[in-house]
Amino acid sequence: MSTAINVVAGDITNFATPALVVNLFQGVTQPGGGTGAIDRALGGAISGLIADGEIKGKPGEMTLLHTMGRIPAGRVVVAGLGKRADFDAAAVRRVSGDAARFLRGKGVSEFATIAHGAGIGGLDAGVAAQAIAEGTLLGLYKFDAYRSNGGNGDGSKGDNDDGNAGTRAIRQVSIVERDPSAVNALSAGAARGATLAEATMLARDLVNHPANIMTPTRMAEAARDVANAVGLELDVLERDRMAQHGMGALLGVAQGSAEPPKLIVLNYRGDPDNPANNLGLLGKGITFDTGGISLKPAANMEAMKGDMAGGAAVIAAMRAIGTLKPRINVTGLVAATENMPGGRAQRPGDVVTAMNGKTIEVINTDAEGRLVLADAMCYARSLGIIRLVDIATLTGAMVVALGKACTGMMGNSAALADGIRKAGARSGERFWELPMLEDYRELIKSDVADMKNSGGRQAGSITAAMLLREFAEDAEWVHLDIAGTSTAAASKGHLVKGPTGTPTRTLAQLAMDLAAES
Ligand code: BES
Ligand code: MN
Ligand code: ZN
Repeated sequence: MSTAINVVAGDITNFATPALVVNLFQGVTQPGGGTGAIDRALGGAISGLIADGEIKGKPGEMTLLHTMGRIPAGRVVVAGLGKRADFDAAAVRRVSGDAARFLRGKGVSEFATIAHGAGIGGLDAGVAAQAIAEGTLLGLYKFDAYRSNGGNGDGSKGDNDDGNAGTRAIRQVSIVERDPSAVNALSAGAARGATLAEATMLARDLVNHPANIMTPTRMAEAARDVANAVGLELDVLERDRMAQHGMGALLGVAQGSAEPPKLIVLNYRGDPDNPANNLGLLGKGITFDTGGISLKPAANMEAMKGDMAGGAAVIAAMRAIGTLKPRINVTGLVAATENMPGGRAQRPGDVVTAMNGKTIEVINTDAEGRLVLADAMCYARSLGIIRLVDIATLTGAMVVALGKACTGMMGNSAALADGIRKAGARSGERFWELPMLEDYRELIKSDVADMKNSGGRQAGSITAAMLLREFAEDAEWVHLDIAGTSTAAASKGHLVKGPTGTPTRTLAQLAMDLAAES
């Protein structure tokens, strides 16, 4: 089922494998490094194709050569790296994902690769190997749980998402390195990348499951599985405890659903002697968002099974953090409920009171994410969390503003926002800050309550964040709106069409970076 990534010291011109991946920067006519060695062993076949203009080294370009017994590798793939000036770990992630999917399409069940970026590319060996592992594993991701033929991942028949019938799973990928002294760093990087990729794939799985399966109850079970696997504490608040804490905003959203809501709390104690050295990760876990009484249109409503992607990323990041064990205390919280219409559903115009006593007029029952997060933020504060990152598919307006290239970011702490940008630079996930100007605050003024839950169409992502800010109080807080970035429209590099699992890897990296600072 799963793909193993291993690092071996050796000479690639002597390495027996069904397929070997080498690379080429755009504009290079005489390849060096591992690609040059393979070119010489193949009597100049690669440089010849470059001279003919067939190989250009463009990003995404894949050229397959059959070696006809001239080297132990049966095939060589020359993967384009793009321009050297643009080269970074993200390019390694992209080429690794593209090459792995390309070779799966050719029916190979294992392959070898040179360590893209570690030599001529100038990247740190660990960084390069991490990017190779992430790109390869995430790029090969498939979700076949509901295919009655068992899908293609195990070699059975049926079409897969590449349009390649009957492709087999890739069982093993070997990173082959000539310099034995680099093997330790490469191995550590590959292991870190595999941990982060596996967590990201858990987030993707949770989102891919349909809402009739991935209920709040099932999300809590997924959190329990993670807690058991990596040794975290788990607490799940049911309706009665939510009521005891006065979580009227969360309960207001949940009251329209027959599925019991869950406030899931996962706790990792990486620095038990310093309880204030802590980080809270809070995910929106709307397992299905119909809009409630302010019902959404039917077209594409099925995509709203993904309205728990923030919660999925939190559960997944907690698994990575529990595995990587940074010296910091991290609490993951998921506010999980459906948003349904029905005889018990809340109505537009209802006023709810959150745990901190603040009142919210529910103008639009479809602006439910901020309501459930408001109470979860209060609860996180009551646990003593001083740094809080919330992750939510919060607003359609974010998809309009930033599309799918980066996640929208807002908050009250420049330091925490910088920390996320820095962690994102390592993970290859991008964040862009929107301005929470005071001018926008009047858009969510209510005639009857402390605030209203919808400010209308203007600056919709910002007014949503400004409502959340009312519940951060004195915590350092950053809000990440992943409405655009939580899904990919097409497979490319480490992304596969469907859920991306973002920002699981950045959250885990943030915990590691904060631990290193403290
Ligand atoms: N879950 C949606 C936001 C969303 C839309 C996520 C598209 C992913 C893709 C959220 O609960 C919502 O419905 N927001 C409303 C807010 C409005 C009523 C103020 C929206 O964006 O339209
Ligand atoms: Mn909604
Ligand atoms: Zn929603």
